[in-house]
Amino acid sequence: MTLKLGIVGCGGMGFRHMQGISEVMRHSNIAKLEAICDLHEEAANHVADEAEKNNGYRPKIYTDFDSMISESGIDILDIVTDTKTHHVFAIKAMNKGISVLTEKPMGITLKACRKMKDVQEKNNVKLAVAENYRRDPMNRLVKALIDEGAIGDLQMVIDVSVSGGGYLMHGTGWRAKKSLAGSLILEQGVHTSDLILYFMGKAKTIYAKTGVLNPIRKTSGMLNEQLKKFYGHRVEDQLDNNESQIEIDAEDTAISVIEFENGSIGQMTMSSAASGYGFGNESIHGSKGTIKLPGSRNGRSPIILRDPKNPGEPPIEITGDKLLDLVPKWELDEVTSLYFDNKKRLTSYKYDFEEIDRKLIAIEIHDLAKSIIDDSSPEVDSEVGMDALALAYGALESGESGETVNLKDIISGVTNSYQSIIDEEFNI
Ligand SMILES: NC(=O)c1ccc[n+]([C@@H]2O[C@H](COP(=O)([O-])OP(=O)(O)OC[C@H]3O[C@@H](n4cnc5c(N)ncnc54)[C@H](O)[C@@H]3O)[C@@H](O)[C@H]2O)c1
Repeated sequence: MTLKLGIVGCGGMGFRHMQGISEVMRHSNIAKLEAICDLHEEAANHVADEAEKNNGYRPKIYTDFDSMISESGIDILDIVTDTKTHHVFAIKAMNKGISVLTEKPMGITLKACRKMKDVQEKNNVKLAVAENYRRDPMNRLVKALIDEGAIGDLQMVIDVSVSGGGYLMHGTGWRAKKSLAGSLILEQGVHTSDLILYFMGKAKTIYAKTGVLNPIRKTSGMLNEQLKKFYGHRVEDQLDNNESQIEIDAEDTAISVIEFENGSIGQMTMSSAASGYGFGNESIHGSKGTIKLPGSRNGRSPIILRDPKNPGEPPIEITGDKLLDLVPKWELDEVTSLYFDNKKRLTSYKYDFEEIDRKLIAIEIHDLAKSIIDDSSPEVDSEVGMDALALAYGALESGESGETVNLKDIISGVTNSYQSIIDEEFNI
């Protein structure tokens, strides 16, 4: 069975999803690219040209979403538009019996997500969120190490990502606007949140200080050669092309403290406002040692550090294939393994960035297609997607109210002051 997939949104990430579905088609017959849609025909044409080079045929092009879902006969809608339309397109498609893969964040607010979940359940279709970082085989290995007790009982996670440069993220106008869910805390924070929850389990509360510390941003210049390949063709319709800088109102900094349901604690700090200095740390600490996380899409092995036998000696380091002794039964799941040369017990890998990127997106698409065929749940279903969004919004809600917030209250809508302005604006 080959499921037909349509992509809506042919910007930076839409281009990458086209590469992802092309990667699926190199490895499997489970899904094929049928149609693509963007408001800007030139952006859709660029993505279609590349798809034709990859797959030997041209997908149908639409500039009107409603026409695509009523005429193209797709089984899966892949939503890669900017965040404000995720729920609109998902709900329309699911009401027509079409399953949905939506880019992160799942929806623009938790209220939008709750509506998406209700429609998904009513129509008995699948709804999955494209969280690519957790699909990295190195993050799968970290998860297995934690679950096998390689660092003992979980105590804390320290995730810090600080950068400067003064650019508007990817030069995209919507990322300047709080009301378009454009803040760094949602854009980057939802990835970080998903990974933290994947490793640590559910979170109970979050407290944060947030702010817009560097409001004046350059509108261009952020794109390096790699990003230009993804974003070079996109048509910007929210920035004034004559302006070389813009004032953003979307938070660029959050310093948060998290309490998890299992009693462990964590720090999640992110900022793109640290002029002249950038650094990061991702580590998980347990009663028997620490895991230094490898980061995503670089193929590096995780590192476990344990206290030395004697004081003054360096910590004992376990990395590479030696990690496998700590997870004797661990194997990559079938779908992840398929895209990584069918290897089952990977402890590092080497591919160029574009190839890694499309492999992780291929895994997201394949996982959803398989869940449709098997009638099972996709890995990142609405509950998982909402948990990650709630943690990121938790930082913003707490930053606004000055109070510790409960994750359950964010998911249910009891705490929604920050988001309510967005809900009102978009009539959600
Ligand atoms: N998983 C990741 O690593 C990752 C990375 C970047 C972006 N994203 C997510 O992907 C989504 C898209 O981000 P992007 O950077 O590609 O943004 P973008 O602005 O480059 O692309 C959005 C595209 O959607 C199109 N669009 C908007 N409204 C439309 C409509 N009504 N009908 C048809 N097309 C429409 C725009 O014309 C544009 O081409 C966002 O939700 C973002 O958070 C995820």
